[in-house]
Amino acid sequence: MRYRKLGSTGESVSVVGMGTWQFGGEWGKAFEQSEVNDMFVAAREVGITLIDTAECYGDHLSEQFIGRALEETFPGERDTWFIATKFGHKYNVPFERDQIWDADGVAKQVEDSLIALRTDYVDLLQFHSGSDEVFDNDALWERLARLKEQGKVRYIGISIGSNTNDYQTGKAPVVGAEAIQVVYNRLDTAPEEKVLPLCREHNLGVLARVPLASGYLSGKYKPGATFDSSDVRSRHDRETVERRLNEVQRIATEEVPESVPMAQWALAWCLSNPAVTTVIPGCKNVEQVRSNARAADLAGISRGTDGTTDETGLTH
Ligand SMILES: NC(=O)c1ccc[n+]([C@@H]2O[C@H](COP(=O)([O-])OP(=O)(O)OC[C@H]3O[C@@H](n4cnc5c(N)ncnc54)[C@H](OP(=O)(O)O)[C@@H]3O)[C@@H](O)[C@H]2O)c1
Repeated sequence: MRYRKLGSTGESVSVVGMGTWQFGGEWGKAFEQSEVNDMFVAAREVGITLIDTAECYGDHLSEQFIGRALEETFPGERDTWFIATKFGHKYNVPFERDQIWDADGVAKQVEDSLIALRTDYVDLLQFHSGSDEVFDNDALWERLARLKEQGKVRYIGISIGSNTNDYQTGKAPVVGAEAIQVVYNRLDTAPEEKVLPLCREHNLGVLARVPLASGYLSGKYKPGATFDSSDVRSRHDRETVERRLNEVQRIATEEVPESVPMAQWALAWCLSNPAVTTVIPGCKNVEQVRSNARAADLAGISRGTDGTTDETGLTH
């Protein structure tokens, strides 16, 4: 594993983290606690320290799995993990959420997250893909600053909904945020234009989410692939998915070295952009956790044409 500093927080986090929307049950699989525990044991073995979750991956369900896993697998070692969660929604039924953005409502959500995570602090609390309208709310950011003072939250982040949202990214230093979470992968490169340069300018940490393009960039799905109705991908626009899967086939042939699993290559591709601190692939099992971690070792494989190397040794 390699580690990078998360922007101005100065915190060292693993360049490959673990995304946990999957634990909430909207990816065609219901998890058992023992499976999540095994994934945490694997994550520790491969050096993963950063875990991304949210209030609405199930009704704090993903957070509950994580809280129990932290207690049951590594009791007393809470401070060895960097736990990122989010606020802004209340889970209803699969694929439906209510929005909660008022300061009191958000403070309550944070309390619920702390209970679910079985901890008294969150490392990174992220604004969860809200509109610019709900973002522009001084009372909200003041309340978050108070939560920081109280020690319940260590750092604030913004998970931007659209990966071109330079408004919220540019405002991050004003509202006290030190990290941006953004959709960035080999198929979605729009952040390279404005968002990632802004992150570098303001020294914001970057969590690249959906780095495998919802799994399509794993290379295991061919054009025509279908998903069970309990899998969020069954709701993706059919035509767009077909176009993407065709593009993935071209990339697999023309860009991915033969000896490298495509998912690892896709994660290393994100990491080869020096603006990116960490990738947070969503994981469903121990094998995926282990395989994804190996992306950190693929220095020089993706985009490795100009031979320049950043401070962590990843060529870009
Ligand atoms: N608004 C927000 O803030 C927001 C939105 C979306 C996601 N997120 C966060 O970002 C994380 C990542 O995004 P995501 O989960 O949507 O998409 P993703 O990471 O691009 O794709 C995840 C899927 O890829 C497949 N996969 C993972 N590792 C693999 C491997 N080694 N080999 C083959 N397949 C592999 C798994 O699905 P299969 O095995 O079923 O193919 C998994 O469900 C989430 O878990 C969540 O923490 C945040």
